[in-house]
Amino acid sequence: MKKTSDLRVIILGAAAGGGLPQWNCGCPNCSMARDPASGLKPQSQSSLAVSLDGEAWAVLNASPDIRQQIQDNRPLQPRRLRHSPIKSMVLTNGDIDHLAGLLVLREKQGFTLFATGAVNQIIAENSIFGVLDPELVSRKSVAIEERFFPLPGLEARLFSVPGKVPLFLEEGEPDLNVEGENTVGIELRAGSKRVYYVPGCAMMTDALAQRLRGADAVFFDGTLFSDDEMIATGTGHKTGRRMGHMPIAGEGGSLDALAHLNIYRKVYVHINNTNPIWRAGAERAFVESRGFEVGFDGMEIQL
Ligand code: MLT
Ligand code: MN
Ligand code: ZN
Repeated sequence: MKKTSDLRVIILGAAAGGGLPQWNCGCPNCSMARDPASGLKPQSQSSLAVSLDGEAWAVLNASPDIRQQIQDNRPLQPRRLRHSPIKSMVLTNGDIDHLAGLLVLREKQGFTLFATGAVNQIIAENSIFGVLDPELVSRKSVAIEERFFPLPGLEARLFSVPGKVPLFLEEGEPDLNVEGENTVGIELRAGSKRVYYVPGCAMMTDALAQRLRGADAVFFDGTLFSDDEMIATGTGHKTGRRMGHMPIAGEGGSLDALAHLNIYRKVYVHINNTNPIWRAGAERAFVESRGFEVGFDGMEIQL
């Protein structure tokens, strides 16, 4: 008998803001990603798709690359004249890499948009998002820990993780590690399965570790391998922590924080183009030896 409650997760975009390659970057990873012979394929910006039946889909984060992501993933394509299997969008913060794709989703198509009040406020304050016809796109603000259903039978909750306001809303030095409505993770439950999507997280807390313990899959912030990576590669002047992202390696990194939580599949996503885990080498081998997977566009997990 065909099971109808399989939880399917597709990584639509495994890269962080900017993607791989980033338009203005000539770092070793970006250069490789421009060379089809290098073996490192281009990766799009930050998004997952989930479904229980393969017909109706919820998309987690609205990547600026969503048009190409739909083109690359047949399950997300229209089944008939003016149709989309995308029934809902769920946002984890107000960063451009998670929001700008909403502008692609105009064209008189109905879906439900779920986000925290703070993220919906950013959308409300930027009138360009008015292209999403309110008669068709209903914006739902969900409270932290409130249960909602992005798809029939798919139970979800948003939970606070340490973070900061989006880059474009920073005024002076922002408060880092704030737990509120600006940066959230998404918990998904279907049947006995429990999956988490946390593409931005500034630090691990005891509460977050307890929550993730024993999960079937965790898709976690893999922005930088080391906290000073942007500085060391000459691509920027900020640490990962200043950007609201805990590093993978080192003291207080996600690798040590997640390794012993009895999580079945640990997958890094939101990986910055500077991150050495994109290519074969010591860092990637280290991550894989500790039981983590490096996410990639088109990667699918069925639970
Ligand atoms: C981030 O994840 O830090 C943001 O996407 C940065 C940005 O908006 O470029
Ligand atoms: Mn981002
Ligand atoms: Zn680069």
